[in-house]
Amino acid sequence: MARLRPVIAGNWKMNLTREESLALAGQCMKLAEEIRSVSVRVFPGYLVAAEAASLASGSSLEVGAQNCHNESSGAYTGEVSPAQLIDAGVRHILIGHSERRQHFGEGDTLIAAKVKAALKHGLNVTLCVGETIGERDAGKAGAVVATQLKALDGIEQDARLGVDIAYEPVWAIGTGRTATPEQAAEIHSLIRAELDAKRGFAVSRILYGGSVKSDNCEALASKKHVDGFLIGGASLKGEEFAKIVRTSAVVFAAKQ
Ligand code: 13P
Repeated sequence: MARLRPVIAGNWKMNLTREESLALAGQCMKLAEEIRSVSVRVFPGYLVAAEAASLASGSSLEVGAQNCHNESSGAYTGEVSPAQLIDAGVRHILIGHSERRQHFGEGDTLIAAKVKAALKHGLNVTLCVGETIGERDAGKAGAVVATQLKALDGIEQDARLGVDIAYEPVWAIGTGRTATPEQAAEIHSLIRAELDAKRGFAVSRILYGGSVKSDNCEALASKKHVDGFLIGGASLKGEEFAKIVRTSAVVFAAKQ
């Protein structure tokens, strides 16, 4: 099965005002129209996700949220359900980001439940995986990622089309310390092999995340099985994000 277009996504985390978010979404919409060979996707904060999705509707820009609950509705004060996101026009979701795992105690069982709930409601899932520095130093990076991918077990065949993976080594997030292209390639190959073994995930893209910038994206994008990026800090600056998208799009096109 042919793979889908590479994805370059910005995770804005808990940053930007409403006005800044919508201005940046507007810039990203123009970028998505200009560069059609990749999917440009943004994950704004909850409060502006619906408005950004409405702004982007009919354009090529994809808009997502950064988290959701695993139930459709109910007494879960402060939470947002997949059904509410769909109702608000949001079509993409990040699940299992390491900041959710680290700061909010999300474990593999909860993450697996969120993946299933999100897919059931029609959200496209980007499942984040990645090891800590301690796990890497202990030689366990591959095993940790393989365990985290178990969140995909039991997903129905049709729903598998709505899944992408983001490999984000925890030690590379927000630290300026990017994984080397070789380190990324090694884990991406392992993830691809796991996806192939699980079957039905042939179109899933494997994104790399962790201190991606315009000066390191070319080398990373050139590696086999690197099908896109999930970008934090550098996605908050329109020009820098655009540079990454334009540079990487050329490399991805040459790879196919
Ligand atoms: P940085 O690009 O700021 O390292 O963040 C990566 C990330 O966590 C994206 O989800």
